[in-house]
Amino acid sequence: MYRTKTCGELRLADAGTNVKLAGWVQRVRKMGGMTFVDVRDRYGITQVVFDTDLPELFEAANALGREYVVQIEGKVAERASKNDKLPTGDIEIIAKGLKVLNKSEIPPFTIEDNTDGGDDLRMKYRYLDLRRQCVKRNLELRHKMAFEIRRYLDSKGFLEIETPILVKSTPEGARDFVVPSRMNPGEFYALPQSPQLFKQLLMVSGYDRYFQIAKCFRDEDLRADRQPEFTQIDCEMSFVEQEDVIQMFEGLVKHIFKYVKGIDFTEPFPRMTWDDAMRLYGSDKPDIRFGMPFVELTDLVKGKGFKVMDDAELTVAIAAPGCASYTRKQLDELTEFVKRPQVGAKGLVWVKFEPDGSVKSSVGKFFTEDQLKEWGEKAGAKAGDLLLVLSGDAMKTRKQLCELRLEMGNRLGLRDKNVFAPLWVVDFPLFEWDEETQRYYAMHHPFTSPNPDDVPMLKTDTGKVRATAYDIVVNGTELGGGSIRIHDAALQDQMFELLGFTPERAQEQFGFLMNAFKYGAPPHGGLALGFDRFVSIVAGLDSIRDVIAFPKNNSGRDVMNESPSPIDPAQLEELKLKLDLEEEKK
Ligand code: AMO
Repeated sequence: MYRTKTCGELRLADAGTNVKLAGWVQRVRKMGGMTFVDVRDRYGITQVVFDTDLPELFEAANALGREYVVQIEGKVAERASKNDKLPTGDIEIIAKGLKVLNKSEIPPFTIEDNTDGGDDLRMKYRYLDLRRQCVKRNLELRHKMAFEIRRYLDSKGFLEIETPILVKSTPEGARDFVVPSRMNPGEFYALPQSPQLFKQLLMVSGYDRYFQIAKCFRDEDLRADRQPEFTQIDCEMSFVEQEDVIQMFEGLVKHIFKYVKGIDFTEPFPRMTWDDAMRLYGSDKPDIRFGMPFVELTDLVKGKGFKVMDDAELTVAIAAPGCASYTRKQLDELTEFVKRPQVGAKGLVWVKFEPDGSVKSSVGKFFTEDQLKEWGEKAGAKAGDLLLVLSGDAMKTRKQLCELRLEMGNRLGLRDKNVFAPLWVVDFPLFEWDEETQRYYAMHHPFTSPNPDDVPMLKTDTGKVRATAYDIVVNGTELGGGSIRIHDAALQDQMFELLGFTPERAQEQFGFLMNAFKYGAPPHGGLALGFDRFVSIVAGLDSIRDVIAFPKNNSGRDVMNESPSPIDPAQLEELKLKLDLEEEKK
């Protein structure tokens, strides 16, 4: 037997017992006649003491290097100086035996929570990074959440069914990753962006409650909350309306918070229409941990001779509480912030409502104090508050003010990672217009059902049609989204037509689904939660990379195994593929 106990479990009550431990050498501290070795495994760290009473053992301990794999035998003893930072800090092992199971080269960074290793280095040696307790905790949380998700969904009668990874490439959505087929030269599979079509087929098959913790693949630009391969908690239900789906998955999110985080949400999650979310927060995923909703000032500011506002489609403001004391430098910083290319505003107007009742503003030349006070009243700004105002094209300005609002939330410490503010956003538009290609795209996907009340507007007022689609947002992150699907072949045909598909092309791309729908498709709907996002939100982390064992970097590379990488010419030949990298080389 390699070990009788783990490095995380011994306590004072174990004093006097003989144990065997196995693990990695975290640290060796030589203190004259005594050497202390911290041994680490998945469960924790235990201190082992060697002294000169057993000279051979003492010498062997002194020869240990960091990350050596060792087996220790010894007696548990109460420590003279206890370490209350370690769960095992009351005891130590008086060593009687030491076996080096394997040596280690000096690791490229220290395997501790506060490591000296930078991001790139840690990713290159991710297997060492994963030894760090803080990283391990994230993977433990991920496991626990997956377990609780299965427990909840199983209790509700959901079946976990796997769907294929080699699928048909479809044109909507993000870019596909494609896989050439050796047996069918010139033909390709795609990796699934989600199991969307398969789960709808499963509804046709009668599996009325399906779920899958499913790997999904999307070839899109990466951000902190996006990976090219990620995991969804993918679900679908038959004979349901939007309310049924919302209730079921609100229940799941509450279950997770309760059993994983100890947080009991007793009230229903708030709901907001997409229109309100855009109008009040400039985003379809508002962070409602804090207030500062948008207030539109367009009517008040127009026609007063200030060209920027006279010409603007929208003038909109937020009142930052207690920020009238901001210095020139701080205001300049905010102006710089909104002018950054990522935000894209031309400038920022500010109005300070001083505690003494006076008003100062960057546009004091154009507006009287009374006019500015009127802005303040409309915006609900109190004495001591700072009004931040942006003007321009409506949609763009809302998005810019959304960024500024989040920045102010950060500056004012209002985005506490230990506070969780879930929200359902409902009534999304069915379509979004793309200027470049001059056509409508499905905002969610082409199988999303229009709101039944809006079906008559499909042809006449396409852009205004609402979808029966919903997103769940937590702390400003889109955690998941779903919809009630179209189960009527004629309506689906109409949808494809509006999306610019010829009947032939729709048949070619989605024929199998359309055919299936001829054989009794039940009304159905569902949703998918981003599992990586869910774990990182619960863990209070900024990036989903921290909750993925082997993530890709921002260029989509795995720097550990150096993929993607060129393949052998013989493999290309077998696949009947020729590369033309001339453009790339240029
Ligand atoms: P959607 O495209 O909204 O819906 O995806 C659902 C959820 O998956 C997560 N997600 C991602 N997470 C990490 N990296 C990515 N690149 C990434 N892309 C998406 C998000 C998102 O909310 N089939 C539909 C669901 C349905 O209608 O049932 C779908 O995939 O958290």
